[in-house]
Amino acid sequence: MGGLPKKAQQLLDLREKKTGVLALDSGALLFKEEKIPPEQVLQLTATAQGIVSAYNKMSFAAVGVARQDLAAGLPFLLSLQQKSAFPWLSANLVSRTQGKPYFKPHTLLNMAGMNIAVVGLTSNHGPDALLTEKDNAVILPWEEVLPREIALLKGRADLLILLSSFPAAINKRIAEKYPEIHLILQGGNIPGNLPPKQINNTLITQVEQQGKFVGILDVRWNTQAKKWEDPGPENLLLEKKNELDRLDWQIGRYRKQGEPRLVFKDQLEVLAAYEAMLGQRERLEQELVSLTAAQNAKNLGQARLSSFSNRFEVMRKELPDNPAVLAIVQATTSEVNRLGKLAAKDRAVNSLAQNKAIFPDNYTGSAACQSCHTQQFKKWLTTRHALAYGTLEGKGQQFNAQCLPCHVTGAFGQSGEVVLNLANDLRQVGCETCHGPSRQHALRPQSGKPSQPTRETCLRCHTGDHDNNFIFPEAFARLGCGGS
Ligand code: HEC
Ligand code: HEC
Ligand code: HEC
Ligand code: HEC
Repeated sequence: MGGLPKKAQQLLDLREKKTGVLALDSGALLFKEEKIPPEQVLQLTATAQGIVSAYNKMSFAAVGVARQDLAAGLPFLLSLQQKSAFPWLSANLVSRTQGKPYFKPHTLLNMAGMNIAVVGLTSNHGPDALLTEKDNAVILPWEEVLPREIALLKGRADLLILLSSFPAAINKRIAEKYPEIHLILQGGNIPGNLPPKQINNTLITQVEQQGKFVGILDVRWNTQAKKWEDPGPENLLLEKKNELDRLDWQIGRYRKQGEPRLVFKDQLEVLAAYEAMLGQRERLEQELVSLTAAQNAKNLGQARLSSFSNRFEVMRKELPDNPAVLAIVQATTSEVNRLGKLAAKDRAVNSLAQNKAIFPDNYTGSAACQSCHTQQFKKWLTTRHALAYGTLEGKGQQFNAQCLPCHVTGAFGQSGEVVLNLANDLRQVGCETCHGPSRQHALRPQSGKPSQPTRETCLRCHTGDHDNNFIFPEAFARLGCGGS
């Protein structure tokens, strides 16, 4: 939920500049997975409540129910609905015995003199275990509910929007079958941003899940014709502009320490990556010139139907936080930490002295590597990896099981019990984070070699929403582990 204060501020700024700003979310905002481990329920549901409070402050108009939102159980989501200032929408999550929907199937809004209908669909693709016998609930196929919804809303809405957590292929089929739906916002668990794609008279778009983006779709809607004009080169133009922005930013990072051709002159791999970016930038600029020309020609020759432009805003660290939502996030994370602290055992345990400290699997801690790999150990001490747990302590988040796996060693895939009670020696991003558990190796080096990490090892933690922009060769060079 770390990015919410920035998203809130963006939304506020947008509302100050424009009228008719509608905030919608197609779901999967509460939990990342469809199942949550029992020992994490307290922390995760506390987080979910904080998210809803933040969404209330942000005046969301509607949120779709995705499968992940049901991870703490249907009764939990129904209780959260009571605290939500916005409707949760699902036309197809219904009572097994009566067929009655548990959430509103749709909502009608009036904005800028226009009637807007928003329908929600929950994906039924996935394990059956999501709903229990006691829930008396079933997620119906979209074919069974959508025709009725569309018939019901016909004539009542100038613009019909669908919030869908179905897979992309299904949304495409829905668009092909129902040109009455003007816009599909897809979500759930589909990775990546998707600029609007037009199928007949339906646009499909999505914003990366749990990511650090806000998707802003600027729609000029002709309520008479209710038709999108052919987007032509405009779409592609925006995509390319975004690409150029990203590239410039990356290039800027390389230039931070001075002229890269000098700074990295002994690091051929880094330099090659940098040169490749410059080449790509040149090609992009040329493409942009011809696309802009095509777009201008088109604008001259066409009367306006309904049109749109779209952008994905990155929630960069430098962007301002909204104070009210920041306060909610801070109150929530300290509550989450408090809950974790209660669940953790004696935190004063010292790894070597007491057996309460947990070393999962075959982990032993970085201290055990020092005697033989003095060089690497010394270098490692100078990196922030060696302080990663301290960073959490500094933020009062060292008992937050949602933060710990990336800020300690050996916690991925472990139970909350293990994660909260890790030995002192594992409370940093230590050697074994990258080289794998190495207790046997440290005892008898001849018995086997630890593994050598690859880019994928890093990406487990250096994900888009935690590291603005991870460039492997550059990051690797900064580690100083391995030959250099
Ligand atoms: C008792 C000394 C000793 C300790 C302690 C020790 N190592 Fe090693 N390590 C070695 C030796 C010797 C080699 C070289 C083995 C070879 O080349 O066959 C080695 C090799 C390695 C390699 C390179 C493997 C490769 O593919 O070339 C890595 C990585 C490594 N150790 C990591 C660790 C880590 C992590 C720890 C702590 C958990 C550790 N070592 C503890 C002695 C030690
Ligand atoms: C278990 C999670 C994890 C893995 C795996 C991981 N990192 Fe990190 N990395 C972090 C965290 C957390 C920080 C920030 C620590 C802090 O500031 O408290 C960080 C910081 C860094 C930094 C900044 C270091 C500095 O001193 O300025 C670099 C560079 C880096 N990582 C590179 C890598 C590379 C390269 C890999 C893969 C070979 C990698 N990391 C793997 C979690 C990880
Ligand atoms: C998916 C892995 C991951 C998770 C989960 C994670 N972090 Fe991090 N964190 C990182 C990485 C990677 C960095 C280093 C980023 C960089 O160097 O740009 C980092 C850096 C940081 C930093 C220092 C840099 C900064 O942004 O100020 C803080 C503070 C931090 N994390 C706090 C947290 C907290 C609090 C949580 C839990 C709410 C958390 N992290 C969860 C991976 C993670
Ligand atoms: C963030 C990831 C990361 C951490 C943490 C890390 N290493 Fe490495 N280490 C690497 C990478 C990457 C290589 C180079 C692999 C290659 O060359 O393919 C490497 C190489 C090595 C090697 C091979 C010999 C060499 O220097 O070329 C040894 C030994 C080693 N590391 C030991 C350690 C020890 C001991 C620690 C802890 C003090 C540690 N590493 C911490 C990523 C890491």
